[in-house]
Amino acid sequence: MDWQSVDWAALERLREVFLGRGRGRATDAAAPAEGAAAAPGPYWTNERDLASYDFTLGRRIAWKWAAVLEPLIARGWTPPARQLVDWGCGSAIGARSVLAYGLEGAFDDVVLWDHSPVATQFAAAAIHARRPTQAVRVAHPDAVVADGGFVLVVSHVLNELDTAGRDALIGLARRAASVLWVEPGTSEDSRALITVREELRDSFHAWAPCPHDASCGLLAEVNARHWCHHFARPPTEAFTESGWSEFGRRLGVDLRSLPYAYLVLDRREPPRAPGAARILGTPRESAGLMRILRCRADGVEEVELLKRTAPALWRTLEKGRHDGLLTWREQDGRVTTA
Ligand SMILES: C[S@@+](CC[C@H](N)C(=O)[O-])C[C@H]1O[C@@H](n2cnc3c(N)ncnc32)[C@H](O)[C@@H]1O
Repeated sequence: MDWQSVDWAALERLREVFLGRGRGRATDAAAPAEGAAAAPGPYWTNERDLASYDFTLGRRIAWKWAAVLEPLIARGWTPPARQLVDWGCGSAIGARSVLAYGLEGAFDDVVLWDHSPVATQFAAAAIHARRPTQAVRVAHPDAVVADGGFVLVVSHVLNELDTAGRDALIGLARRAASVLWVEPGTSEDSRALITVREELRDSFHAWAPCPHDASCGLLAEVNARHWCHHFARPPTEAFTESGWSEFGRRLGVDLRSLPYAYLVLDRREPPRAPGAARILGTPRESAGLMRILRCRADGVEEVELLKRTAPALWRTLEKGRHDGLLTWREQDGRVTTA
């Protein structure tokens, strides 16, 4: 696929499908729900739909996966099982991202599942094309997975599901050794993922984004207006390739903004620095003061950082050169030392 071959009409139709049921819901205007929203039944009509999606919206989703996987692997996460399942795979951006992140050879069996056969066919071919020796099959996971014997990947699926679909997916997640789940960064999608976390947290440890295993601090009434979202960095090509600017214009997507929500669960305990805090959203800065919404084991709270107190930390945050998980000391709602 290249920019000349993109089927813009198909992308515009898909975008309408994705946004269709999302209309009227509370979304972050700066964070369009790409690849998201409820649609009845399979909507992929042919291979070109998927190729066009994969080349555009799919690549943006891959950038979010990169933002999740890079720090996760740096923190020591390794696949706890040799079977990888991508549920609602579409073009298998999720599974392909996991395979690409140095985890090639880590899986004996990649299982792809989607209720659209056009999608599973495209997804299997896309993995084969890049990794001819990787074993891949299309199968309903219930028929092929053993409890605790697989890593589950879910990407941009949740708000397409009715109750039965959601129950099936949560049931599968309960049986996984590890769950890697990425969704759009809207408040609705993030809140839906928080509900998933609450349902699963008895069986797993939270590796990310949560720096703790307790109930989500955003469920406190005082935090009702916040949601757990993060921003990936689009690569330079997103700003230099004319195809991307055409994409942004035609689909009404802000290319600079790549918000996502995510959840990494595992039966193994993660390494955790005492007092570690996760930054949610983007710190707000004005005149030497930053307001940071942070999540910690004791709750989600907005804290302040003065530039003069911790200039190195300030610079790190200002430049966005961090993965959002930091350790600092606080006193009376202020960060005192990094
Ligand atoms: C927005 S696409 C995301 C595709 C891919 N996971 C990604 O991140 O690019 C959502 C996918 O979920 C699939 N899907 C929706 N409902 C499903 C269900 N009940 N069972 C299986 N797949 C489903 C759709 O066919 C579609 O491929």
